[in-house]
Amino acid sequence: MIDPSTIERIIDTAEITEVIQDFITLKKRGVNYIGLCPFHNEKTPSFTVSPSKGIFKCFGCGKGGNSVNFVMEHEHVSWVEALRFLAGKYGIEIIEKEISPEEKEKQDDRESMMLVSGFAGKFFAGCLNNHEEGLAVGMEYLKERGYRRPVIDKFQVGYSPGKWDAFTQEALKNGFKAEYLEKTGLSINKGDKLFDRFNGRIIFPIHSLSGRILAFGARTLKQDKNTAKYLNSPESEIYHKSRILYGLFFAKRSIVQNDKCYLVEGYTDVLSMHQAGIENVVASSGTALTSGQIRLIKRFTNNITVLYDGDEAGIKASLRGIDLILEEGMNVKVLMFPEGEDPDSFSKKSNSESFIEYIRENELDFVLFKTRLLSEEAKSDPVKKATMIGDVVRSVAKIPDRITRMVYIRECAAILNVEESILYSEADDIRRKEAVKKNRHQYNDQQRSKSEKITSQSALMNSPLPEKEIHEREIIRLLVNHGSKELFPSTENHPEKPVTVADFIINELERDELVLSNVIYNIIIRECKNLIGQNMIPSEKSFSNHQDTEISHVAADLLSTSYDLSRIWKRKEAQVETEEDVLKELVPSTVLAYKSFLVREWLKDTEAKLKDAGDEESILLQQRYMILKNINMQLARQLGNRTVF
Ligand code: CTP
Ligand code: MN
Repeated sequence: MIDPSTIERIIDTAEITEVIQDFITLKKRGVNYIGLCPFHNEKTPSFTVSPSKGIFKCFGCGKGGNSVNFVMEHEHVSWVEALRFLAGKYGIEIIEKEISPEEKEKQDDRESMMLVSGFAGKFFAGCLNNHEEGLAVGMEYLKERGYRRPVIDKFQVGYSPGKWDAFTQEALKNGFKAEYLEKTGLSINKGDKLFDRFNGRIIFPIHSLSGRILAFGARTLKQDKNTAKYLNSPESEIYHKSRILYGLFFAKRSIVQNDKCYLVEGYTDVLSMHQAGIENVVASSGTALTSGQIRLIKRFTNNITVLYDGDEAGIKASLRGIDLILEEGMNVKVLMFPEGEDPDSFSKKSNSESFIEYIRENELDFVLFKTRLLSEEAKSDPVKKATMIGDVVRSVAKIPDRITRMVYIRECAAILNVEESILYSEADDIRRKEAVKKNRHQYNDQQRSKSEKITSQSALMNSPLPEKEIHEREIIRLLVNHGSKELFPSTENHPEKPVTVADFIINELERDELVLSNVIYNIIIRECKNLIGQNMIPSEKSFSNHQDTEISHVAADLLSTSYDLSRIWKRKEAQVETEEDVLKELVPSTVLAYKSFLVREWLKDTEAKLKDAGDEESILLQQRYMILKNINMQLARQLGNRTVF
């Protein structure tokens, strides 16, 4: 139990932006800070931190609270654990009441598992550094491989003695329960005896984002082919392999500073690169990359470079996995090492500058790399070429951003020497099929986002709406107020059915694959789509009487606000009676204004990126810039035509 005055000191000391910045990147926006919310998947920041109030709040998913709440939520830890973490960060000594056996029992499972894992980490490190066997066998091996003290200490590398129950006995002696030794997989129960899982191995502790030990990887020292090179901790309540990246705790600061993350295969690659002075590196630990892992990286940067050992088979095998990174909308580059080299061996031959220089000069854009690799291979074989094009298009189709896709299609068409239009239509095809698949899961997603307790804009911090949200709000306002009204008599495709405001808005957003950044607005759009899909017409009532109070709340807000026509209409001094009279003009131009705003934002962003882009990247960015310029012009023209009447 932590003494109450200690708790007070911790809370007073833990400055909220400082705490949060250990986990995600924040940018200053007025008196507040904003960033991408770590609690839900989002592309535009709705996570706000107020240093003066000492609170955070996500306007997307509704999570909010103080710095202790943040650590609890983020690290999935208890109140006490979060306090301990913060005390550690600020060097506050925890004054503790003596833990009685009953109280110890009360601590939850997870905490107990973490405690025993922490103890195990210390035990193994102690064996490596102080014990005869550890020094003679373990440390000798590490030295041989060129690892020096600082990196060994930093990663808390250890050694598990060859005896079958050395660790288990020590843990039991120190009062840790067999239950948790088994639950963490540190010990294995055979009959009624507990054995060590790892023995005679080098131990690599695997840390959480806040630096606590959750699990271990253990390398054998034997050359014997029948012994598994690595034994790893099993999945457990504290160790979810698909959501952990080895080394991220030690890498996160450097990833943010360099706006870049290197992805390698193994424990030893990470250590070697750190030793060479490159710290923004994580390992997938031999398993296929998961989207959970990619999202972890995405909290810190959008740029990944995958470092391969130079063998063809390995590269081919991992091409698929990299598509996942594209899917998350990240920029992926790949680096091939010379034959027979890997990050481990290569970093031992070079210092940090020359290594980074080598990467900079040799990393290739993933999509172009894959396209060139496959195209080389299929050169004179038309059948192969056909499947290869399919393969390339599949990658391109994963890219969520439409403009980026266009850029790649242009470049890939040139490399493959095929018509752009062929790639376009194939990519559209794939995306359409994917969308159908996704729709099937939509209902569940919806339920989930609802249960995530969404809170509306006005809560907690009355920060003014960003311009993007103003546009979104205006579109949703029109949808909620006028969704069921007829906009155009009919279309060529459906001569019998008039186009409603809802039809129009949804179609316009879908056509350009635009997703609104506000979660509630998105749910409203999805509900509309569902209704239309069931041949129903969404009306005001669909939202104001919605069973989800958040939706009805927002709808009520949008229905009641006395918008005396949008800004566009105010500027024209036209005599208009009601908004309903001008829907035909108002709805399309509101949507156009939103699109035009987005394109201008993207242009700004591209321009900024062009300033410090490498050669290959800058070709892609210029393409992007030209496409956006073009769209911008078209939109401006359309907007001009619309508003003049
Ligand atoms: N791995 C594993 N189990 C194995 C082999 C590999 O879990 N039997 C994982 C480990 O996380 C390892 C990674 O896959 O770090 C990469 O494998 P490998 O390249 O074989 O290991 P290295 O870490 O590079 O080890 P070393 O340099 O000692 O060969
Ligand atoms: Mn390796």
